[in-house]
Amino acid sequence: MGWALKAAATHCNHGMGYFLYGIELSSTPLLFGKLDEDYHLETPGTLEILIKSWKEAKGSAFLVRHEVFVNEQGVPVELELDELDASAIHALAYRNGECVGTARFILLGDGQAQIGRMAVLAQFRGQGIGKQILIKLMALAKSKGISSLILHSQVAVMPFYEKLGFEAQGPNYEEAGIAHRNMILMLPK
Ligand SMILES: CC(C)(COP(=O)(O)OP(=O)(O)OC[C@H]1O[C@@H](n2cnc3c(N)ncnc32)[C@H](O)[C@@H]1OP(=O)(O)O)[C@@H](O)C(=O)NCCC(=O)NCCS
Repeated sequence: MGWALKAAATHCNHGMGYFLYGIELSSTPLLFGKLDEDYHLETPGTLEILIKSWKEAKGSAFLVRHEVFVNEQGVPVELELDELDASAIHALAYRNGECVGTARFILLGDGQAQIGRMAVLAQFRGQGIGKQILIKLMALAKSKGISSLILHSQVAVMPFYEKLGFEAQGPNYEEAGIAHRNMILMLPK
């Protein structure tokens, strides 16, 4: 079965998912400077990316996702939360202590994992926060021995993922009324 079929069929990824994997996780703080030494925030202040379980993350992650996907992009609210959140690993970006971005990481088996629900509040975009969330999840994938990371990208933001090495695969398709395309990143052993 190809990865496009195996992956949770969801917009970024919203909708029904097919795989549930339980993960025990505690919060692991990682300061910005340790994530990408060469990258500098365009505005002063602290940025911290924390890895959390859904239990720990849901209060903050839901607020960011609701604002970005439901209020801004018009994704139906009933698609925003799904059963995969409970078993996913969540990355949360805190700018000066305020949660301003999030994404989730789902183990799919066979050395694959999927990134989804990548969102940064509009007023905090263009400052490298999304990039740091992605770098954090790429490091997490490597630490778990993942060989390929997949995601369903909104076509409009594909350049964001391409900058970190993701490549497009297959045709465009629609999810939650938004044009998407599958992307993949092979991780070296
Ligand atoms: C996509 C998103 C998470 C990016 O977050 P961000 O914090 O603004 O991104 P960054 O500032 O870290 O950008 C990193 C790089 O990607 C580029 N980039 C970011 N968004 C881009 C876009 N829409 N188109 C082209 N390039 C983009 C930036 O210019 C930057 O390039 P640089 O490293 O050469 O300076 C954010 O725009 C967002 O939340 N969008 C709405 C929700 C969404 O569409 N999520 C994706 C679902 S698949």
